[in-house]
Amino acid sequence: MAERELQDALLLRLQEVDGGADSAEMAASLALDHQLVVGAVKSLQTLDDVIKAEQRSHKHWELTEEGKDILEKGSHEAQVFDAIPPNGIAQSELMKLPSGKVGFSKAMSNKWIRIDKSAEGGPWIYKAMDDIDDSVKTKLLLVQQGKDKTLDDKEKKDLKKRKLLSEVTLKTYWITKGSSFSTKVVKQDTDLTPEMIANGSWQGRKFKSYNFDAQGIIPDCGHLHPLMKVRTEFRQIFLEMGFTEMPTNNFIESSFWNFDSLFQPQQHPARDQHDTFFLSEPATATEFPMDYLERVKKVHSEGGYGSQGYNYDWKIEEAQKNLLRTHTTAVSARMLYKLAQQEVFTPVKYFSIDRVFRNETLDATHLAEFHQIEGVVADYDLTLGDLMGVLQQFFTKLGITKLRYKPAFNPYTEPSMEIFSYHEGLKKWVEVGNSGVFRPEMLLPMGLPEGVCVIAWGLSLERPTMIKYGINNIRELVGHKVNLQMVYDSPVCRLDC
Ligand code: PHE
Repeated sequence: MAERELQDALLLRLQEVDGGADSAEMAASLALDHQLVVGAVKSLQTLDDVIKAEQRSHKHWELTEEGKDILEKGSHEAQVFDAIPPNGIAQSELMKLPSGKVGFSKAMSNKWIRIDKSAEGGPWIYKAMDDIDDSVKTKLLLVQQGKDKTLDDKEKKDLKKRKLLSEVTLKTYWITKGSSFSTKVVKQDTDLTPEMIANGSWQGRKFKSYNFDAQGIIPDCGHLHPLMKVRTEFRQIFLEMGFTEMPTNNFIESSFWNFDSLFQPQQHPARDQHDTFFLSEPATATEFPMDYLERVKKVHSEGGYGSQGYNYDWKIEEAQKNLLRTHTTAVSARMLYKLAQQEVFTPVKYFSIDRVFRNETLDATHLAEFHQIEGVVADYDLTLGDLMGVLQQFFTKLGITKLRYKPAFNPYTEPSMEIFSYHEGLKKWVEVGNSGVFRPEMLLPMGLPEGVCVIAWGLSLERPTMIKYGINNIRELVGHKVNLQMVYDSPVCRLDC
């Protein structure tokens, strides 16, 4: 029977009765499963007071599987009694019966059987009476017939203890007519369409009310990886602070933008094969803004802008080497150079969140690729105080308020500061990022006006994600060992709590 027909049948039945009807009785009279009737009752309940339904619970006794078995074969003690031949039987034989152990002690205490302990060859069991009355079976039969009321509480409790009976609670609905009772169910509309408004038909229709308690359906595919969830949160924070996202869609970069433009000397250890993945194909880049490249060469080799430079033989061959970018500061360098080409300088706030690559020794917290989050602010006369202020604002939005700074070194920033935050969970200060004020040796060759300062900071995306999601080994977060169930089960990300 379709649900709709079932609803009609229930309404018809309700029409006939005075007062109300019980869902279990309705199910019995329609020869249907009770759950089907409950489903129909619930659907009818969503209509505007067509019916009223009140849940009731009824307790009753039912035979367990073992109880049913006994109804067929007799109680354990009766089975033991029946198994004893006129000349008796060895106790050891009797005990081999499936019902032997329980049946023997019950039959003994009923005085149905007796034992001769002095018999040759071990204890011997005889019947102590000709006939027995298997009251356990009789009681079970009464319960089976729905006459459990004829048993007293103690009898039922005893049978429950023997695991032959169990008490079950049945939840049914007591259904009565509602104020707008009708045997004709008007199908309710779930959507108000533009057409209904245009032709006025909405006025005659009934609309289904919203069920705000309905559980959402969990999609079984298309879950965002925790890293992407955390990235979304960081992006949101930057956007709230008025930052614009930089284009980061080039994993391959030249050494020039990754290192040289950042005033990182060509002999710097980070440029080593051990720290950087160089490309073999294409091994070199050829397109550079040549006048800018000349200024970079000059500031490295001879100095300028009030700096003495590094005083070494700067080689374009080194700058041409292609690599997988080791930090997103390469992107910031490109963007700042572009900004410097504007006719008139305008202050900017930029951010990026994307992947970088380092030839690291892999361990529980390091992989050869990870994501960097970077913020950059360029304006006249920015100070270290501005940097600390913007960091305070940024980290507060993450729910991190206790910050400390430690002097550090980056070839491209002066001063440079590592950022530490107090981790309430770990009860210690943990490093959360690196920051600084970009050096004039980096900014002035780009063509940025004198007096423009650029403050910047960077952090990894993996670290806060691991802390947030309680993941201790980075290989469980990224790479071929990731359990997709982890992605599926990871909750939404809220960084500020
Ligand atoms: N590029 C630095 C790193 O890779 C982070 C950083 C960005 C430091 C901007 C200072 C300023 O760790």
